[in-house]
Amino acid sequence: MERDIKKIISEMTLEEKAGMCSGEDFWRLKQVERLGIPAVMVSDGPHGLRKQPENADHLGIGESIVAVCFPAACATASSFDTELMNEMGKILGEECQAEDLSVLLGPAVNIKRSPLCGRNFEYLSEDPYLAGKMAAAYIKGVQSWDVGTSMKHYAANNQEYNRMSCSSNLSERTFREIYLPAFETAVKEAQPKTIMCSYNKINGTYASENHHLLTKILRDEWGFEGYVMTDWGAVADRVKGIRAGLDLEMPGSGGFNDAKIVAAVKDGSLDEALLDKAVENILKVVFSYADNRRPEAVFDRDVDHEKAVNIETECAVLLENNGVLPLKGDKKVVYIGEYAEKPRYQGGGSSHINASKVTSALESAKEKGRTVSYLKGFPADKDEENEAELSAAVSAAREADVAIIFAGLPDVIESEGYDRKDMKLPACQNKLIEEVLKVQKNTVVVLHNGSPVEAPWADDAAAVLEMYLGGQGVGEAADRLLYGEANPCGRLAETFPFHLEDNPSYLNFPGDGRVVDYAEGVYVGYRYYDTKKMPVRWAFGHGLSYTSFSYGNLQMPEETLGDTGSVKVSVDVTNTGAVAGKEVVQLYVSDKNGTSGRPVKELKGFAKTALAPGETKTVEFTLNARDLSFYHEGLGDWYAPSGTYEILIGHASDEISLKGELSFRTGKQLPLHVSGSTTVGELLAHPVTAPIVGEMMKAMQAKMAGMMGDGAEEAANALGTGAEMMEAMVMGMPLKSLASFAGAELAAQIEQMMQSLNQALGNVQK
Ligand code: BGC
Repeated sequence: MERDIKKIISEMTLEEKAGMCSGEDFWRLKQVERLGIPAVMVSDGPHGLRKQPENADHLGIGESIVAVCFPAACATASSFDTELMNEMGKILGEECQAEDLSVLLGPAVNIKRSPLCGRNFEYLSEDPYLAGKMAAAYIKGVQSWDVGTSMKHYAANNQEYNRMSCSSNLSERTFREIYLPAFETAVKEAQPKTIMCSYNKINGTYASENHHLLTKILRDEWGFEGYVMTDWGAVADRVKGIRAGLDLEMPGSGGFNDAKIVAAVKDGSLDEALLDKAVENILKVVFSYADNRRPEAVFDRDVDHEKAVNIETECAVLLENNGVLPLKGDKKVVYIGEYAEKPRYQGGGSSHINASKVTSALESAKEKGRTVSYLKGFPADKDEENEAELSAAVSAAREADVAIIFAGLPDVIESEGYDRKDMKLPACQNKLIEEVLKVQKNTVVVLHNGSPVEAPWADDAAAVLEMYLGGQGVGEAADRLLYGEANPCGRLAETFPFHLEDNPSYLNFPGDGRVVDYAEGVYVGYRYYDTKKMPVRWAFGHGLSYTSFSYGNLQMPEETLGDTGSVKVSVDVTNTGAVAGKEVVQLYVSDKNGTSGRPVKELKGFAKTALAPGETKTVEFTLNARDLSFYHEGLGDWYAPSGTYEILIGHASDEISLKGELSFRTGKQLPLHVSGSTTVGELLAHPVTAPIVGEMMKAMQAKMAGMMGDGAEEAANALGTGAEMMEAMVMGMPLKSLASFAGAELAAQIEQMMQSLNQALGNVQK
């Protein structure tokens, strides 16, 4: 149905319009009955429905409907599977229609800057490319059911400590390259119906009143068409917010802020057209839901539970395996650790789901008649060592053929609202793992955590299986993977450093409470570890399989790329093992032009492909100029210098199998304003100034040679100062110094040249 939204707005009173810009209650937008505007509901998200009938709260404390808890984003991102993410989105979209929810509050796409962020389990990755692609796939899935999504928390909300007031201070380049692209990709590829702005400030300005963020970047540059809502209670100055491009305040302030909007319009300090625009943005989305209700939608908890199990099976990451996995049916296996019986499958806070059913790995094993015994060993909810339970577990491990320890982080350590204090597993768990390893070499550790942990025992363990917070199907998925009914195919969407101190944000996380300085810049995650050549426990992209893969036949038919257009890259991947499996082919780009301040490589493509034993498939990628570029602050745009770029293909960031070279030519010119501080090198590198300065340098050389006499060059060489060194010194010399060495006549010429260079560059004379 076509709605004339502008006409509806023209019939609204000023008070109704202001009222439309805030929630009626915790989860509902306001209704205006006489104009047919319905009261629609939104709900958390992101990995299941937390629809609250009453007793609303945004902390995950009050009751919500029984729903299906799917794997959290820490797990789903590890699938590296956009189709799977899309599938999950579709399931959630249908559930929303069945429950009459207009918007699902997710996906959460903030970058994992530090392993300590309490909410990392809800976030996708340390890599913006991966996060963006996975988020876009999820959004398309949910929205295919005419239900909106709310991509959050926009932006630079990378910690929980003082998240409601702290300022994330970072350079525009870091913002554009690391913290914005996941949002950018998803807006451009999937048009989420809504975006949720974060609580924090960015360089001193609250996200909820940040025009640069909410209007200039989001709407003017990326073309966002939906409405922006606040995170719950993120409004600071409501009128500034409307001016900045914030449409909806949630949950609403009981009319307090609406009255401010009305007053500002009346006293002329707020242009009513801006209010009308906000209302229009909101109503477009409200009606796109209300006019497209889908009566066929059903929310079948049992069916969706099975889907949750299947999804988690595709997400778990096999980190180590000396061949002990998959388990053989005749082995005597002991399960140790309370998570075997009570798995940790979700994190705390607003994403907390009232799960319809949770089957543990132990129950699954029993149902399937496996020979498994069980000892608690340690509790699931706290760090408490129990001597008797520890020694019983060690004895049982000694007697068994294989010991499987179900370890993880207790709820209290990892939640929305606060950050972790360290990267360790509870001491009682590390102790038990170490004691068991002394008596049983076939020890497997199964992890249930939302973010990396230090694993001091990893070299001795026979296998390590990372289940993450795998949703209500985590136990059944673990069973399938441990016994080889399914082949692990997840890859790490984040690096596991050896120690917390290795992490690049370590010295600047979480800041002093008022400000957090993103001093590591663009060197986040593997961008830092790889550039520093720092060994890590498990690298970004790592993940093992019960089969093996080989790569070959890297093809790049076009070897040259320009500012427009694209090139294709293809590669053959073969399953060289005995069982079917899935490989995640990863493509990284490396700038080989000596450009300063660039990470040694960055992910720019990935593809998951299923292969039968012996099967080969060709995987294809497309690259364009943006994939080679960094954000140049002076230019205010993406820029890649002309030159050579290496295309790296492999199984993980630390396992590159094939390399190819791509040549790039740009027509973009970097801005340059010539002053006394401009160096000869800068001028010679710029196509406009290089010829003029080249001539000048010839004159200079002649003059200097004259001044120093015929023996100047020999003398310099004798002192060990070869021509190369002279050149390097001159390249770094600013014009003001060059002038003072050159003598009065040339100095005057240099001064004049500065003017003509600026003219040639089109710089306006000040
Ligand atoms: C969280 C959001 C959530 C909202 C509503 C906030 O505290 O940061 O992610 O969607 O509450 O529950």
